[in-house]
Amino acid sequence: MSNQDPSLQYLYELFSDLPRQGPGNSRSTQNAYSLLKKLPEMPIILDIGCGSGAQSLDLARISGGLVVAVDNYQPFLDFLEKRAIEQNLQTHISTKLGDMFALEFKENSFDIIWAEGSIYIIGMEKGLTEWSRFLRTGGYIVVSDAVWLKPNAPEPFKSFILSECPTITNITGCLSRINRSGFECQDYFTLPENAWREDYYKPVKPRLEEFKKKYKKNREAMQVAAKMETEIEYYEKYSDYFGYVFFILKKSS
Ligand SMILES: C[S@@+](CC[C@H](N)C(=O)[O-])C[C@H]1O[C@@H](n2cnc3c(N)ncnc32)[C@H](O)[C@@H]1O
Repeated sequence: MSNQDPSLQYLYELFSDLPRQGPGNSRSTQNAYSLLKKLPEMPIILDIGCGSGAQSLDLARISGGLVVAVDNYQPFLDFLEKRAIEQNLQTHISTKLGDMFALEFKENSFDIIWAEGSIYIIGMEKGLTEWSRFLRTGGYIVVSDAVWLKPNAPEPFKSFILSECPTITNITGCLSRINRSGFECQDYFTLPENAWREDYYKPVKPRLEEFKKKYKKNREAMQVAAKMETEIEYYEKYSDYFGYVFFILKKSS
């Protein structure tokens, strides 16, 4: 979900109050976190493009540290704050309205920078280069991003993905971008399919039905719904070609 989308208000409505706005699940967040070594006892974590903060809550719980959760859409942050209180994690989460293209934090202030399903908005190289200054020496950046898992994706699926993620590449291409941005990949893994089917798409499906009833006479809203339905159908058919990969990164020495 990028804030550049002209049909943004409908997209936001579709996802409002849903647990997450992109593929992922607690287990994968935990797996990625378990790959980080020699962390301080209470790490300070910057979560960029946090949405309603499924991973922010997981990180707060797993790390016992402080998660500074940034998004440029206040209703997602409000929902995250509500969930943090319900889960008794409010002292471990601090939300901040901000733009990932122009973040204002002190240099060297975070042990970990986390971006699940959001670095595509700024682009891997630009994101890593811009955010690197906020990371303390020896810290980690952890991102998940869309990749081609195998070549020769069939049309029209390929064009659909390219229209959504114009700079998508394969894992080797991502690793080159990472190296060019001054980082080394310590580890990576592909997000499991249930993180799409169960955790991301399942809660959206009933919401789509309500949304289509509400907006049956609104062409723009119906186009937003149709695009989401196409994405879900394509994932059902072509998940072996396309997925998300978690990358665990450290600055190159
Ligand atoms: C695909 S969602 C991922 C949300 C969450 N990390 C997850 O996995 O559920 C991308 C998020 O980035 C946010 N976003 C879009 N453009 C942004 C920007 N320029 N600065 C900060 N956040 C932005 C959106 O509001 C949205 O919450």
